[in-house]
Amino acid sequence: MKHETIEKSAGLLGVLTAVAISIGGLAEIVPLMMSREAVDPTPGVLPYTATQLEGRDIYVREGCYTCHSQMIRPFRAETERYGHYSLAGEAVYDRPFQFGSKRTGPDLARVGGRYSDEWHRAHLVNPRDLVPESNMPGFPWLAKNTVDANVTPLKMQRLRAIGVPYSDADIAAASASVEGKTEMDVLVAYLQGLGTAVKGR
Ligand code: HEC
Repeated sequence: MKHETIEKSAGLLGVLTAVAISIGGLAEIVPLMMSREAVDPTPGVLPYTATQLEGRDIYVREGCYTCHSQMIRPFRAETERYGHYSLAGEAVYDRPFQFGSKRTGPDLARVGGRYSDEWHRAHLVNPRDLVPESNMPGFPWLAKNTVDANVTPLKMQRLRAIGVPYSDADIAAASASVEGKTEMDVLVAYLQGLGTAVKGR
């Protein structure tokens, strides 16, 4: 009888559903927030360098995540193809994270070091020059556009405000290290760093 009363009152049902979901959500989320493994960086994982950080922004701007995930699941089919499954502590400096769920192309979580810089450059300009059957679009403008080095320190300051441990020296040196680089240069630097902190790939 009581159950029927709840089911027949949309408002009450909505409120109680929200309560039930919140309890389930908290039970999943709170322990994870307490777990050091999920909060601390995995040993070897460092904040992005100024160059990699700019490259990451190009990755986001160009929507690479719409076709590429950065999350290797702990299944044999995945680890044999891509390497060690992704660890929570590898993503602590990713804001926002790039896990993704759409894989038109391969997962990129451990693509760092798999190809040469030259390979990436040629591939990004026209993927079909290297992989004839590829349906990845080319991004030729990246090789022509120069990165605005003036905003790099500002980005790093903002990230520091939310917990990324950049030092004053890192921030002071940022503009000089990005100055004159093309969007292609910084994107390739970002790709080459992906997943390299975890050994045994
Ligand atoms: C429309 C979907 C699509 C988009 C958008 C896309 N890619 Fe791809 N990508 C693919 C496909 C499909 C492949 C596999 C064929 C190939 O290697 O070209 C691939 C392959 C790759 C590879 C080689 C991975 C490996 O392990 O062999 C890299 C690196 C890569 N893409 C980087 C990027 C970057 C960086 C961007 C954004 C600038 C991007 N992709 C945007 C579809 C896409």
